[in-house]
Amino acid sequence: MSAPLDRRSDDLRLRVVRRALRHDSAPKHVAGEARFIDDLREPEGLLHIAVGGAPVAAGQLLGVDLTAVKAAPGVVRVLTAADVPGKNDVSPIAGDDPVFVDSQVQFYGQVVFAVIAQTRAQARRAARLARIETATGTASITVDDALANDVHILPDYTFRKDDSAAALVASPKRLKGRLRIGGQEHFYLEGQVSLAIPGEDGDMLVHVSTQHPSECQHLVAKVLGVPDAAVTIEVRRMGGAFGGKETQSAQWAAIAALGARITGHPCKIRLDRDDDMCLTGKRHDFLADYEVGFDDKGVITALETVMASRCGYSVDVSGAINDRAMFHADNAYYLPAATITTKRMKTNTVSNTAFRGFGGPQGMMVAERAIDAIAWSLGLDPLDVRKRNLYGPRGNVTPYGMTVEDNILPALMERCESLSEYRARRRAAAEFNAQSAFIKRGLALTPVKFGISFTTTHLNQAGALVHVYQDGSIHLNHGGTEMGQGLYIKVAQVVAEEFGVDADRVKITATTTAKVPNTSATAASSGSDINGWAAKNAAGAIKERLTAFAAEANNVAAEQIEFRDNRVFIGNRSIPFNELIRQAYFARVSLSSTGFYKTPKIHWDAKTGQGRPFFYFAYGTACSEVLVDVTTGEMKVTRVDIVHDVGRSLNPAIDVGQIEGGFVQGMGWLTTEELVFHKDGRLLSHAPSTYKIPCASDAPEHFRIALWDGPNREDTIYRSKAVGEPPLMLAISVFAAIADAIHSLNPSVPVPLDAPATPESILRAVQAVTTANAVTTAS
Ligand code: MTE
Ligand code: HPA
Ligand code: MOS
Repeated sequence: MSAPLDRRSDDLRLRVVRRALRHDSAPKHVAGEARFIDDLREPEGLLHIAVGGAPVAAGQLLGVDLTAVKAAPGVVRVLTAADVPGKNDVSPIAGDDPVFVDSQVQFYGQVVFAVIAQTRAQARRAARLARIETATGTASITVDDALANDVHILPDYTFRKDDSAAALVASPKRLKGRLRIGGQEHFYLEGQVSLAIPGEDGDMLVHVSTQHPSECQHLVAKVLGVPDAAVTIEVRRMGGAFGGKETQSAQWAAIAALGARITGHPCKIRLDRDDDMCLTGKRHDFLADYEVGFDDKGVITALETVMASRCGYSVDVSGAINDRAMFHADNAYYLPAATITTKRMKTNTVSNTAFRGFGGPQGMMVAERAIDAIAWSLGLDPLDVRKRNLYGPRGNVTPYGMTVEDNILPALMERCESLSEYRARRRAAAEFNAQSAFIKRGLALTPVKFGISFTTTHLNQAGALVHVYQDGSIHLNHGGTEMGQGLYIKVAQVVAEEFGVDADRVKITATTTAKVPNTSATAASSGSDINGWAAKNAAGAIKERLTAFAAEANNVAAEQIEFRDNRVFIGNRSIPFNELIRQAYFARVSLSSTGFYKTPKIHWDAKTGQGRPFFYFAYGTACSEVLVDVTTGEMKVTRVDIVHDVGRSLNPAIDVGQIEGGFVQGMGWLTTEELVFHKDGRLLSHAPSTYKIPCASDAPEHFRIALWDGPNREDTIYRSKAVGEPPLMLAISVFAAIADAIHSLNPSVPVPLDAPATPESILRAVQAVTTANAVTTAS
């Protein structure tokens, strides 16, 4: 018999895990005392670096005249591709991301040189004095351009279940749709920044704002032409990352390190906001076509979709991102037959990259738009169509062959439906809309099912290092990075729980490649899942030695030793934890250990498009209500109710914060954040003046979050679930609610709403449904 899944009885013994402890840096954040890289006291002799780039989106580099740059005040040195001692590449996979352009320009602003100066202002001023001559080549800027020019960064990829073409033909009803899904700028508060400090024998220490210290280490070493062991990357915290520092921090780290190597001085590069927006990749925007077959109850019989994404000039991690879009094109719905294709288009724009959800959000949009279209065509409430299509009795196997095992969404949706008073408010919205000509109310309740694990199976590993010092204080280090998501406090809670001590006994320390090697990026929401287990394993190894020592020294059975309440219980007496540590030290017990974890059960065969890419799924539901002014396109989110599944929470305060933040960031993606490129390839929306992220006042006044109280059925750390990315996709309910409001204008036609639903996009959809009405009545 398998172990009971409900660990509630265990929970009663937990002292530190599950507690709503505040973020370990919270007081420092509010007091301005948390040190980000630009806050570190600058080493003596520090030089500053700025970069200069190409004035075209595509074309051959003909000449680079840096005379004026070199002559500018304060300038110490200029760096170009010719100065790279190792390999001129910082790509994570494909070898196609040059640090400096050496011949072919691939996007507007692509870095051609760097200038090192005494001050940051001098470096930036000097960078503008370059004369860069290029031949202008043909550029594809948008997905449409790339499709027209047939330029792909990777081959198309398809997986299928059953014969969807035949199933479509056999379907009682079918419809087609097309949607555009916008990209998104990460807009982390702390931009890309690196500080490199040269050591002896060519060693290099680089403080990097990165989610991926090990990859940075490797790429810096490759650029410098030294072994990985000569390079140490350290990061105490990031001021936000959101996927934007998974791969794209490496170029700046490499430039800082190269500057330090060549000048012998410490060097810092901190991108200006505009440069950061123009020079680093974003969320992929997609153009998606689908055809869906269904019956007269709205139950889906088949789905075919082709999703084309703007990958930018290089591969980066676009392969895995497009894969994840495919893994989520079903969202929460059972598809008896499906053909799912992605086209990974090459464009002459920045190389698009990881962003919270990693392609999943774009894939889910296809499923959710299809559901709305089905509901509209049948005159049904979209919620009923959603519920009828959930994984469950009809089937539990995804289009990629993974079985949905803990299918809790039907129950979650019921809970959300009742907490949000959906049915009553549906009626109220209809009454309101009948009375109100210009302001329309919209309502939608949508689910999220998000796969947890890196789909690149080997990345699902983590390491940790724990020391206990003679005084009983504990030093914790692991491969995960802190970007505001609360990973450090969660892992510290796990370690404190293991030793039976208070969380504040555990010293949280900066992530460094010198302590834990060969780590994966803190990404795919897996930070606490994998580092939590690695740290528990490290602490557990020490605890095992302590237990054996205490048992032997006191002549009791090991089962009679218990660590709890900052004490160690030995048979029927107890001593302070610190006292046991002191004794163990004198008895020469090793008080340091590494720990390792690899996620079990997962496998994926890209050739057959079958496997179990995810250890488990995290679920959530949100009901959102909006008001839309159909004369101006303005929109306001008036009420949001969320029921979200974090398994048994490691820290409910942190988890609720992640749900709030993820939801609001998702709202921004789908409503106000619009990336606009000029046809010559320049990013026009390159500053907060032209790119609108949500602010505090955009968060809905009524914003209620309930945590689903069920354990993870898989053996994750204390039966918790990952929380970092899934809540972002709950914001699809806002988009669906906007479409619902517009739909009230003319229920006989579908709403062709593209994302983001900016006022312009809303007005276009309003116009489309109202003119469609005129056409219908005229015919
Ligand atoms: N929360 C904050 N405050 N800042 C961030 O940069 N990144 C998100 C999410 N939550 C992010 C965040 C992304 S993209 C991921 S993958 C996860 O956090 C990574 O951390 P985790 O795996 O520890 O959840
Ligand atoms: N998520 C985030 N980052 C990744 C992934 C993923 O699934 N795979 C590779 N890098
Ligand atoms: Mo998150 S997009 O996996 O860094």
